[in-house]
Amino acid sequence: MLAVKVPKGEAEAVRRKLLELGVLARGYAPERRGDFVLFPVTGPVEGFELVEAEFRKLMRRPKSYREVVDVPAEVRPLLPSSFDVIGDIAIIELPGELKPYGRAVGKAILKAHRHVRAVFAKGGRIEGEYRVRELIHLAGRKGTETIHRENGIRLKLDVARVYFSPRLATERMRVFRKARPGEVVFDMFAGVGPYSILLARKARLVFACDINPWAVRYLEENVRLNKVNNVVPILGDVRKVAGKVKADRVVMNLPKFADRFLREAMLSVKPGGVVHYYGFSPEEDLFSEHEAKIKAVARELGLAVEFLDERKVRPYAPRQFNIAIDFMVEGSPSGP
Ligand SMILES: C[S@@+](CC[C@H](N)C(=O)[O-])C[C@H]1O[C@@H](n2cnc3c(N)ncnc32)[C@H](O)[C@@H]1O
Repeated sequence: MLAVKVPKGEAEAVRRKLLELGVLARGYAPERRGDFVLFPVTGPVEGFELVEAEFRKLMRRPKSYREVVDVPAEVRPLLPSSFDVIGDIAIIELPGELKPYGRAVGKAILKAHRHVRAVFAKGGRIEGEYRVRELIHLAGRKGTETIHRENGIRLKLDVARVYFSPRLATERMRVFRKARPGEVVFDMFAGVGPYSILLARKARLVFACDINPWAVRYLEENVRLNKVNNVVPILGDVRKVAGKVKADRVVMNLPKFADRFLREAMLSVKPGGVVHYYGFSPEEDLFSEHEAKIKAVARELGLAVEFLDERKVRPYAPRQFNIAIDFMVEGSPSGP
């Protein structure tokens, strides 16, 4: 094949020039010959030394694992178009018909995604107090510990032992943008610290509570990893901590049960402070039921609430959404 031969020192500039001229042959790796580099070209180019040479074909990475997966044609339409990636671990939800082909799916994901080193399938629903789910190994490394990067922080975690969703990164950044420098923050359900560590970059102090010992172990490690010195990890039931902390901002990221902890949240927020409440809702009534619960607890405590913002965070199940409500609490709690 025809090639342009250039001294090594000029290679990068010439490569750009050939690209600009539209004559660089795509899909081949340039060849080194002593102090020269050879670039494959689609035709003669004036002003350069031309030679004949053989080139290695570059392997194109598939755009999707679905291009390379080896499964029968009848189940192909069921292949999920996306999956979560936490650090270097991919977690995919496979419909029942695809379960016998889990290994093939796992191998295809490894082939298509250079940064993925392990693939697991969701083995069930997120369950229990710790909000974790069973995982089934499909391909690659078997270990479940990884380091995930989001919003400029690093989070070490074990995907089999703690809750973590990469789909909340934008929501966490939204809360970070609302926070004001110097605040005291109370992250009631902190997990491995994705809110706490991010907010620690603005806040004076962050109290980060979780009942799962594995989550708190990773939270402590993440505090060190990210060199923040204003996070106070607390292992235990948030019911024992609430009221002892007085915060400008409270984060309640436990959408399944957050309504059961509204009293604790309101006892822990300063007058004029803000609560970030999360819940699950059906499409036809996203906010009013949650609002009613918030108002009822405020009334019991002799407090007033002002709703500041309400949003869908992400779809959660068919016709179900993870929602967020930000509200401000006025007054001081009364009664027992
Ligand atoms: C949905 S996860 C959220 C974790 C973290 N905020 C995140 O964004 O990744 C909820 C967390 O609340 C913790 N949790 C559940 N009940 C709790 C309680 N009563 N007190 C403290 N933490 C609790 C679970 O262990 C879990 O880590």
